[in-house]
Amino acid sequence: MNKDIKKILIGEEELKEKIVELGKALTIEYKDKFPLVICVLKGAVLFMSDLVQKIDASLEMDFMAVSSYGDSTKTSGQVRIVKDLEKSVDGREVLIVEDIVDSGLTLAYLIKLLQERNAKSIKVCSLLEKPERHIADVKIDYVGFVVPDEFVVGYGLDYAERYRNLPYIGVLKEEIYND
Ligand code: PRP
Ligand code: MN
Ligand code: MG
Repeated sequence: MNKDIKKILIGEEELKEKIVELGKALTIEYKDKFPLVICVLKGAVLFMSDLVQKIDASLEMDFMAVSSYGDSTKTSGQVRIVKDLEKSVDGREVLIVEDIVDSGLTLAYLIKLLQERNAKSIKVCSLLEKPERHIADVKIDYVGFVVPDEFVVGYGLDYAERYRNLPYIGVLKEEIYND
């Protein structure tokens, strides 16, 4: 285990099983459709690449990068588009893939943006959710795991850009983000 990790919250096997389950549900949702599956970079990149392999339906992938945290542990509340989509969402079924919904501000911003761009339907699949931290009122259609209000990293989630490459979700030691 990485030395900066206090404990493993969700291990590799548990992640794999959940992704198979989510993939099955999304296969039913998008059977006979051709959704635009949007990966919210950078956090969702590992989840996205594993998830799409478990969706047995035709789909198209696109990528968007937004950032509200920077290197801080607190959301700035200001969502910034770092990289926009290549595809038009006009008239499309859209699935937003996120690693975590924390305050919900990122997701609320994205949903509003895609609505304004005239998406036909917008669904959300997030690997993790921290319900007790929601500020924005957001509905997540597919959730992998509800997690407690601890500093989680790994499997795409970072602290100051580190730990995204861990194959599990772990809790970061306090001493790492307190100094
Ligand atoms: C993180 C995470 C979500 C968002 C959730 O992204 O990946 O996208 O914050 O927080 P919220 O619900 O409070 O808005 P971040 O802005 O850190 O960018 P990153 O994905 O590149 O790490
Ligand atoms: Mn993110
Ligand atoms: Mg981040």
